[in-house]
Amino acid sequence: MNNEPLHRFPDGRSEAEQPKWRQDFPIDVEADEYGARRDFTKFMVLTSFAFAFGQFWIVLQSLFRVKKTEEKQIAMVDDMKVGQAKTFHYPTDRDPCLLIRQTAETFVAYSNQCTHLMCPVRPDVKNDRLHCPCHEGYFEASTGRPLAGPPRRPLPKIQLRIADGIVYATAVELRTS
Ligand code: FES
Repeated sequence: MNNEPLHRFPDGRSEAEQPKWRQDFPIDVEADEYGARRDFTKFMVLTSFAFAFGQFWIVLQSLFRVKKTEEKQIAMVDDMKVGQAKTFHYPTDRDPCLLIRQTAETFVAYSNQCTHLMCPVRPDVKNDRLHCPCHEGYFEASTGRPLAGPPRRPLPKIQLRIADGIVYATAVELRTS
């Protein structure tokens, strides 16, 4: 027969030497520590899985970050002067965007919703910037990347095609950096 005590107490003394409350509610210290180690291991494994999944998601996002949608005519080249901006909607009527003619040959377009809290951004072409008045956020007009203020992500970029004097929006490029 096994004479090992059923419980090991934290002070190492036998069960008979323990106070009454501890005899009534004995805790097996070894089993308790084993449980704590097991919970900790489980926590670490789950955290690692979550982290790995997060990384995988970011890679997936960058692989499929260009949302191909139907091409849409958004402006006539001759209707826009250099330095002029124009709003349009793309890919749906609920997605406001901004088209800017930077030089005679260069047009850029972005989503017109600030990546901080979705306020509409305003063009400041002279200073190569887009300004969000809600919390004083700034984006670079030639890249859409955040320059100052709360926004951390660039504005989604609208890919363009110019043919026969017409500017078309062809896709939305979602960017994380
Ligand atoms: S919504 Fe644009 S800076 Fe906050």
